[in-house]
Amino acid sequence: MNETQNKNSIIRLFNVSKRFGGKLALKDITLDIEQGEFIFISGPSGAGKSTLLKILYLAEKVSEGQILIDGMNLARISSSKLPLLRRRFGMVFQDFKLIPTRTVYENVALVLEAAGEKPAYIKKKVMQVLRTTGMEKKFKALPPTLSGGEQQRVAVARAVVGEPSIILADEPTGSLDSKSAQAVLDFLMEYHKNGATVLIASHNLHLLESTVRGRNIEISDGTINRTATML
Ligand SMILES: Nc1ncnc2c1ncn2[C@@H]1O[C@H](COP(=O)(O)OP(=O)(O)OP(=O)(O)O)[C@@H](O)[C@H]1O
Ligand SMILES: [Mg+2]
Repeated sequence: MNETQNKNSIIRLFNVSKRFGGKLALKDITLDIEQGEFIFISGPSGAGKSTLLKILYLAEKVSEGQILIDGMNLARISSSKLPLLRRRFGMVFQDFKLIPTRTVYENVALVLEAAGEKPAYIKKKVMQVLRTTGMEKKFKALPPTLSGGEQQRVAVARAVVGEPSIILADEPTGSLDSKSAQAVLDFLMEYHKNGATVLIASHNLHLLESTVRGRNIEISDGTINRTATML
């Protein structure tokens, strides 16, 4: 790895392992991701894709190894700085993690409220993102009354509303029909074109065919099997 690569790296993993009890979900992962890269993480069910995204989002702690985000070592970041750091990430969880007692609008608006944005901006921005994900008509609905695909689109809207510089999307099209899946993919690619670093995890290799130029990182059984450039 040369100096130039280091300078542009936004995410660096050094010998990262993650253990759940006796199960090693990630084994000795070393990875360097550059600012603005489009990464497709593939691999079979149980390979460790979600675990990889969750440790980057700080939703899970690593068992061994180090993670640097923009040169900052996650292990050394004070808890008071964590919310600020997390705001740089937008995450689409595989199981959505929407708040069931809050409306679609409120679920998405919460991100901007936590960031201290002005009410007028919040209203405009939330409705704009819901429009692009095709969910504006359901803005008053509660998540449990939505279909899986609709909840997924709200989860995507929530992940991008804060204009994060890093988008982590875990199976973001898993509950969608092919047309809506393509729309969500196009939507994420727009953010990539505007400079965001995008990581999509999916076991659906068909998605790869419709993604932009980027890097496919194939993991199996917790280790990186292969990385390939997608042309
Ligand atoms: N909270 C947890 N507690 C115990 N084991 C876990 C936990 N989370 C993940 N695992 C285990 O770690 C391994 C990797 O899981 P992970 O969810 O990262 O896989 P995945 O590649 O995302 O699979 P899928 O394609 O099915 O979503 C699996 O064997 C899983 O059972
Ligand atoms: Mg998963």
